[in-house]
Amino acid sequence: MVSSSEKSQRGSPGGHPDDREDQQQEGAIVELATGAIAAGGGCVSHAADGRVVFVRHALPGERVLAQVTAVSASFLRADAVEVLEPSPDRVSPPCPHAGPGRCGGCDWQHASLPAQRILKSALIAEQLRRLAGVDRAVEVEEVDGAPEGLGYRTRVRYSVDRSGRIGLRRHRSRSIEPVDECPIAASAINRVGVGSLQWRGAHHLEVTASPDGGSAVVSVETGRTRLAGRPSVDAGLVVNGRTVRRPDRVRFEVLGNGFEVSTGVFWQVHPSAASLLTRTVLDGVVPAVEEQVADLFSGAGLFTVPLAQAVGPRGSVVAVERSGRACSDAVRNAKDLHQVTIIRSDVTESVVAGRIGTPDVIVLDPAREGAGLPLMRALVALDPPPRAVAYVSCDPASFARDLRVMLEAGWSLPSLRAFDLFPMTEHVELVGILTPPERGARPPLSTGCPEP
Ligand SMILES: C[S@@+](CC[C@H](N)C(=O)[O-])C[C@H]1O[C@@H](n2cnc3c(N)ncnc32)[C@H](O)[C@@H]1O
Repeated sequence: MVSSSEKSQRGSPGGHPDDREDQQQEGAIVELATGAIAAGGGCVSHAADGRVVFVRHALPGERVLAQVTAVSASFLRADAVEVLEPSPDRVSPPCPHAGPGRCGGCDWQHASLPAQRILKSALIAEQLRRLAGVDRAVEVEEVDGAPEGLGYRTRVRYSVDRSGRIGLRRHRSRSIEPVDECPIAASAINRVGVGSLQWRGAHHLEVTASPDGGSAVVSVETGRTRLAGRPSVDAGLVVNGRTVRRPDRVRFEVLGNGFEVSTGVFWQVHPSAASLLTRTVLDGVVPAVEEQVADLFSGAGLFTVPLAQAVGPRGSVVAVERSGRACSDAVRNAKDLHQVTIIRSDVTESVVAGRIGTPDVIVLDPAREGAGLPLMRALVALDPPPRAVAYVSCDPASFARDLRVMLEAGWSLPSLRAFDLFPMTEHVELVGILTPPERGARPPLSTGCPEP
């Protein structure tokens, strides 16, 4: 935030209407009243010419001085650099790297944790209403394992500057905020100590650690350059996908099952996420002995293994996953479960129509972009339909868009839960349980909303 003297050097808010154009240029300082939260983590406000301004580092209901950071024909972006009338939900950011022009990793270090969850609920409700045509309030549930919203991430991806120092990218920028430690990283990550070393030659490194610190791996990407030396960290070391020092996988325990996860393979970052999501999915779809299950976007087998245990040796689980490394991990993680078949493939309409059979239960957990409309249409076309679908999502917008396909086909959403697995950020995890229309029931003609 800038001081009042800096502010007066940069220009003042309000002013003569002829100044309006100047105020809407990059770098200008404008006084704004902030409204509702918007996807992306900023608040909606309006410039003097009526254009929407997305204001970062602000909270709804504040009056701020904001510096314009980007201008387009239809909207502006700005950072709140001084708060004139603060929200009661405002707190001092616990991270020394948070603030305008600083680290872009967190959106809401300046909001209390209860307020963060209320903001996430508002974002979910807005996307459900706008994209799925559903009016539904969803409480975002607090999750154990991130005291004060900090110290939770079991994987952190750092950028490396030319001098070999690690840092995190600034918001919407290629420039790097140097950091020694990230306060939202688990202590097991910070203990690896990559921040005190030189990584000359690297352009990125990703540190993954089990929450108990039992195993940790540093994975380095250098592009065409060579890594200078072999930094001595108390962890495995993988350089450009090649194992330099073992371990090259991290071991996680989830509800009594052990999972080994290679570098570059997806795994939930919050230490409570894997068990919480597994329980929520199993409680939602209640897999029964001898049933057939499809686990789509199955990663290293987080859901595949407990689903296979639930259906038993006379049931079956078909897991579909694009990444070869993830499939290899899943094969290892499910090695004693002969009822599991792992298909290395994109999850496509033809895979759903032709390779997963007619399962009793489907679990789908796509990446942020969601499953997409063609895939959702293929799912609702399965005949007979599965008796339950669990849709796990880290993006309320793509979830709502996909949900709409199922609702329009007559499916119901008996349960929708949201978990605060990413404190300090706008991100949130959803688990929706869907059930098909009764046989013979006709789907509603429309949700009454325009096509997204
Ligand atoms: C959100 S992760 C979920 C993985 C697993 N369910 C878990 O919770 O650990 C999404 C997974 O989908 C995979 N993936 C992304 N796009 C895909 C696609 N089009 N087809 C198949 N797999 C895909 C990614 O490699 C990743 O493993």
